[in-house]
Amino acid sequence: MAVKEENTPSQIKSRERVAERGEVFTAEREVNAMCDLVKDECLRADSRFLEPACGDGNFLAVILRRKLGELRRKYAMSPRDYEKQAIVAIGSLYGVDIMNDNVLACRERLFAIWNEEYTAHCKADASDEARESARFIISRNIVNGNALTLMCVDQDGKDTSAPIVFSEWTLIGSTQMQRSDYTMADLLIYNEEGTFFAALTEEQKEEGGVFLRRYITHYKKVQEYGE
Ligand SMILES: C[S@@+](CC[C@H](N)C(=O)[O-])C[C@H]1O[C@@H](n2cnc3c(N)ncnc32)[C@H](O)[C@@H]1O
Repeated sequence: MAVKEENTPSQIKSRERVAERGEVFTAEREVNAMCDLVKDECLRADSRFLEPACGDGNFLAVILRRKLGELRRKYAMSPRDYEKQAIVAIGSLYGVDIMNDNVLACRERLFAIWNEEYTAHCKADASDEARESARFIISRNIVNGNALTLMCVDQDGKDTSAPIVFSEWTLIGSTQMQRSDYTMADLLIYNEEGTFFAALTEEQKEEGGVFLRRYITHYKKVQEYGE
């Protein structure tokens, strides 16, 4: 006989939110089991993930911890390299949610993990510069939007006229970070089964020239050119 698992209280905030937005959070055991299916990718600092209805980021949080754990192991003797790669790791994680409070909670949660892990590994707090950089990247990567229409939403979850735009963060050389902005619509590759999210190949970028904006700056100054 199949056993029906009940949702635990921590998976649901209210009946209204379940009815309105289908908000039921995934339990950590399932998140870990799913992440295990792509175990090696979860360890690579620059391997990109999108949680399209991220809530407060249950998948992103687990993946971030895994990536930072691997960096701890790899850069045990080099806090400087750890710092740089930890910025790359946070830049690899993307989320969209229609509910503003979930977006804010997700951003705070990811930053807290990043910050705590930094202090634990480097035995010192991250510099203000590094923290600002991490916060800025998180604020760009975790978007208050509608993953079905691919548009940003207002405080009430209604579509605005602005498309969802993601920034691609790429480490260039030893300290430079390139930011390239793309609309989410341009990042969706259509196939026979439907759609899936994939970073554009270099060829596609050259052919389409679809990026909206691009700049290169120090990885600790990514916010210097503004939103
Ligand atoms: C089932 S919860 C999943 C949350 C998280 N991914 C998890 O697995 O724990 C669904 C989330 O989708 C969000 N949501 C519902 N419709 C959405 C839409 N059209 N675009 C983006 N997010 C949406 C809700 O606000 C809610 O946070």
